Amino acid sequence: MTGKREPIHGQWSGRLAFILAATGSAVGLGNIWKFPYIAGENGGGAFVLVYLVCIAVIGIPIMMAEVMLGRRGRRSPINTMRVLAAEEHAGAYWQWLGWAGVIAGFLILSYYSVIAGWAVAYVFRAGSGLFTGQTADGVQSIFNNLVSEPERLLAWHTLFMVMTMAVVARGVRSGLERAVRLMMPSLFLILLVLLGYAWNSGAFEQGIHFLFHPDFSKITGNGVLIAMGHAFFTLSLGMGAIMVYGSYLPARISIAKTTLVVSLADTAVALMAGMAIFPIVFANGLEPGSGPGLIFQTLPIAFGHMPYGAFFGMLFFVLLVFAAWSSSISLIEPAVAWLVENRGMKRVSASMLAGVVTWLFGLLTVFSFNIWSDFRPLSFIPVFRDSTIFDLLDYLTANVMLPLGGLLIAVFAAWLMSRDSSVDELGMGDGFFYRVWRFLVRYITPVAVSIVFLRAIGIV
Ligand code: TRP
Repeated sequence: MTGKREPIHGQWSGRLAFILAATGSAVGLGNIWKFPYIAGENGGGAFVLVYLVCIAVIGIPIMMAEVMLGRRGRRSPINTMRVLAAEEHAGAYWQWLGWAGVIAGFLILSYYSVIAGWAVAYVFRAGSGLFTGQTADGVQSIFNNLVSEPERLLAWHTLFMVMTMAVVARGVRSGLERAVRLMMPSLFLILLVLLGYAWNSGAFEQGIHFLFHPDFSKITGNGVLIAMGHAFFTLSLGMGAIMVYGSYLPARISIAKTTLVVSLADTAVALMAGMAIFPIVFANGLEPGSGPGLIFQTLPIAFGHMPYGAFFGMLFFVLLVFAAWSSSISLIEPAVAWLVENRGMKRVSASMLAGVVTWLFGLLTVFSFNIWSDFRPLSFIPVFRDSTIFDLLDYLTANVMLPLGGLLIAVFAAWLMSRDSSVDELGMGDGFFYRVWRFLVRYITPVAVSIVFLRAIGIV
């Protein structure tokens, strides 16, 4: 059995193209919007430390496993799991892992697109000079005005979904591959500018202390689960996005090296965003735990007070939109690839169908911030006492579906797939590094994910 299949949807042009696409998928709202606000809600330092440990011992090895399965299967995650299960004499039910991923992708994109819509709206708000000279209160009421109107949120959400599906319809090579090449370095630079502002804000040390000084009394079992869930979310793991990108990876390229680059870049962006945001939070007497609006209520203060702030602000939100855009396409690609393979649909119609379904689900999130903002569907469960529908969607996907998906990917890659197949596919020989990888994926991931789950529901 050689296990070498031909890709059917095309391939990346090379190593750099894959790194850019995978980094484009990984770096997104998760790094700049979500990481700071959940770190703020969960007490800072200890949360950040748990998150970093999860990236190192769970995230990076699972990313290698997921890319590996994708490249070996060369199909949409559903068909990849079916084909690989047959090849390794495992049960056909493994394709359900692919299905669960498709569902998780729909659910995540449904809220991701609404938040990305906020970022699009902020391009115009920043560009028009609305933030110039604003106080923290002014910036806060600008944010509240936006989210309190369902029609506006719906319009921006619709626009972002159309942008996403337009790129997905064009296929893997054209479009974003080129855009991402330019956007990622620019995003990095503008984060440096923001860091410079934070440095001079008068509360830099306080921000750094909050982010990097671990105080374990501030983190709960649920906080550990959120940190672990975020490691999966930020690296785009556990639902087939990185698997499908792996399926377009040319055969000769080393999976180990490329995934390492992607994870390090992703982590760097998250930490930079945190270091830019928390000093601004403290310098202006804001609450670190103020929730999903955090970056929209802090960064505009910085833009409102720096020279050329309208320009930098607009640029920042443009780049944030691009970061979100290059992530959103990966959330829906597994579903679209499956529709093309199994339903014989054209990419264009497959993208439209998937887009309409996601858009509809997005309404749940749109209304969570206004007409349903007091609706707490699971308030009888203590951890969900204050959770809106949006919070629950986020929790279910990031903290339950992705880690479970990752756990199953680990089990498949390290227990069911033969050693020879993985040595052959990973391309790092079978020496020390391979053995470390296999140990982490075989034992550490399954055990760690299980313990964190059991702790969060109070059993351990
Ligand atoms: N990683 C992206 C971010 O941090 C979001 C994302 C893209 C994602 N594809 C994914 C999350 C697949 C989970 C699974 O913004």
